Amino acid sequence: MESMREAADLIARAERLVVFTGAGMSAESGVPTFRDALTGLWARFDAQTLATPEAYDRDPALVWGWYEWRRELVERVSPNAGHEAVAALPATVITQNVDDLHERAGSPNVTHLHGSLFTPRCSSCGEPHRPREQAPGGEGPRTPPGCEHCQSPVRPGVVWFGEQLPVDALEGAVEAAAGSDVLITVGTSGLVYPAAEIPQVAARMGGTVIQVNPDSTPLDPFCAINLRGAAAEVLPHLVP
Ligand code: OAD
Repeated sequence: MESMREAADLIARAERLVVFTGAGMSAESGVPTFRDALTGLWARFDAQTLATPEAYDRDPALVWGWYEWRRELVERVSPNAGHEAVAALPATVITQNVDDLHERAGSPNVTHLHGSLFTPRCSSCGEPHRPREQAPGGEGPRTPPGCEHCQSPVRPGVVWFGEQLPVDALEGAVEAAAGSDVLITVGTSGLVYPAAEIPQVAARMGGTVIQVNPDSTPLDPFCAINLRGAAAEVLPHLVP
């Protein structure tokens, strides 16, 4: 509890506060993390192997179906008390999540390092795709729609393993982390680069890093305070 008070004090005095989030941020809203085993029809797949350009090339309907299923799941759930606490802080928010729960909690200008479930685009010409209203589909493969311009299959607007992160988002995130005096890293395994560099940049540049995660992660050594707990339970205690 001592460290919780210390973290809250640091946050209350921060002048350039950054919050950096991963899948654990949305876990208590009911969105499975990437390292959770998948369930139902998806149980025999590993999220890591579906989130690649090779998987989409091999079986577009499988990968499109998985992302559509996740998009529909996200649309059914709500931001949790952790998202609301983040929105109440005067912070720059940088997320690896492809959901829109920070925005729905009221955080303005969220940087999405790994893209979004809500910005599909053509796999060939890159033209944004405007999805038509449609009834939710079932769990399982779904044929991707065709691009209105070139008829190539549409792909999810997310960053897959092996792809470049959006340059502006990454540069802005590194700049914000480097200039921060306090950075809170929430619910990320710290295993996926370059995103995992963000808290490390803050620490190297003299900022204080506070971590919220029920488990230890490779980011522990960079953190001045490690709060072992769930985002929706811990973050509300950190709002001044
Ligand atoms: P992971 O699934 O790798 O890690 C989730 C982290 O959240 C773990 O460290 C858990 O201990 C923690 N966690 C679980 N429940 C929590 C809770 N209620 N509160 C706080 N923390 C909790 O997710 P990410 O680190 O976000 O990228 O994964 C990084 C990237 O790898 C993702 O953006 C995705 C992925 O595969 C791409 O798809 C490119």
